Amino acid sequence: MGRHQRLAELMDVDRDDLVVADLGCGTGRTVRALLSANPAPRLVHALDATSDLDDDLLHDPRVVSRVADLDARLPFADTSIDRIVSMNVAENLTDPAAFLLECHRVLRAGGTAVVGHTDFDTALFTGPDDDLTRLLVDRFVAQVPQWQSRADGFMGRKLLGLAVDSPLALADVRSWADPHRRFDEGSLAWKISMGMLAAVRDDPALTARATSWVESVRSLADAGRFLFAVTDVVVVLRRDA
Ligand SMILES: C[S@@+](CC[C@H](N)C(=O)[O-])C[C@H]1O[C@@H](n2cnc3c(N)ncnc32)[C@H](O)[C@@H]1O
Repeated sequence: MGRHQRLAELMDVDRDDLVVADLGCGTGRTVRALLSANPAPRLVHALDATSDLDDDLLHDPRVVSRVADLDARLPFADTSIDRIVSMNVAENLTDPAAFLLECHRVLRAGGTAVVGHTDFDTALFTGPDDDLTRLLVDRFVAQVPQWQSRADGFMGRKLLGLAVDSPLALADVRSWADPHRRFDEGSLAWKISMGMLAAVRDDPALTARATSWVESVRSLADAGRFLFAVTDVVVVLRRDA
């Protein structure tokens, strides 16, 4: 089972009349998993700062797509939402604790919020040189990508503290690290390695070493000897009934 199916399952959509919200939905991978489940929710509010939702989801009558800033008040009435999911969004927010307060405000009594984050510092790569692999992961985690205003490569492990300090009750904590063996363009491991190259671009000597590291990883993958994993952490929160 993949990440988005797991998230959908943790949301515990146990009836077909529920109203759910994916906060920071991206292209809608969790929305898709929710709508493919049985029972599926009646309505999915898909919120994001940008409008990247896949076309088929955009035209699905069960999906309401909205551009919204999750650093601001959520565009929902008090106690109007049955389930919330938010994956890999917290590191972008000015105040993740305020975001959880807002989740508490809009959730119905007994409602669930599933908040997850990848802990990028746990990235595991088979590489040709362990010290260089560690250095590149460290540089990647320390750098804020150009397309984000903030990032936190340790956000996965910080979620539990945020959850405990929030007014929501902690119902469960999960974590997983799925094995990936692909390193072709577009694969998760390849995307992170491109982030590593971007993180060292101000250092020509390190860029040369990182470029040859990427080529070695590609050869390891071609030979079936490559493994990549990274840990996702998920907290399941409940608004008291
Ligand atoms: C890494 S993507 C995750 C997308 C999706 N949840 C997933 O797991 O595939 C983070 C998403 O959060 C959105 N985001 C970041 N900051 C935001 C903000 N302040 N308000 C609304 N959306 C935001 C980004 O636009 C992006 O789509």
